[in-house]
Amino acid sequence: MKSITEIIKSRRAIYPPNYQAKQIPKEVIRKILEAANWAPTHKRTEPWRFKVFYDDAKVQLANWIGKAMEQYAKPGKFDPAKQQKMINKVTKSSCVLAICMQRDPAERLPEWEEIASVACAVQNMWLLCTDYGIGAYWSSPSFITNHPHEFLKLADGERCLGLFYMGWQDKDVKMKALRSPIGQKVIWM
Ligand SMILES: Cc1cc2nc3c(=O)[nH]c(=O)nc-3n(C[C@H](O)[C@H](O)[C@H](O)COP(=O)(O)O)c2cc1C
Repeated sequence: MKSITEIIKSRRAIYPPNYQAKQIPKEVIRKILEAANWAPTHKRTEPWRFKVFYDDAKVQLANWIGKAMEQYAKPGKFDPAKQQKMINKVTKSSCVLAICMQRDPAERLPEWEEIASVACAVQNMWLLCTDYGIGAYWSSPSFITNHPHEFLKLADGERCLGLFYMGWQDKDVKMKALRSPIGQKVIWM
């Protein structure tokens, strides 16, 4: 069994071209989502929300992404190659989650705290994925994060913070771990 320190350090952003075609069972996805649910949360607002795109829903997501990229492209900036790359990322994944944040209706805490809480939930999932050998990464394309979308069925006060791609990772994939030393970011007062 790997230690928590080993899992933290070996977690990498693993991209869909490095995913196997094998499906992740729903039961495993439920366990990953359950890990998200134990993130820290100020005032217990539990702001993390996820839309699961699996099987047919994944096909619908790929279709929608194709259309949305065209719709939201800046004038003269639409790039069909980029669009196809984005569609391929969905089809190569076994499951894609829309990462969402539900704002506390009474706004009892600043929005950043709720976004931070969602990020903690994502890290929980990402670490569990690492433990399972599931490649995953958080993608935050602006056409998804900057627009409210009917397709995602966002509730009032809910915001999408990106997509979480998942797939069993190729056995031989080795992503570079790049970090400058922690000493450069810490001041012991
Ligand atoms: C909030 C957030 C948004 C991210 N958005 C993107 C993205 O849009 N595209 C991308 O390639 N990676 C994205 N990433 C993943 C980072 O690129 C990745 O974590 C970084 O390269 C460090 O690599 P590592 O996670 O393997 O240590 C995002 C990560 C976070 C935390």
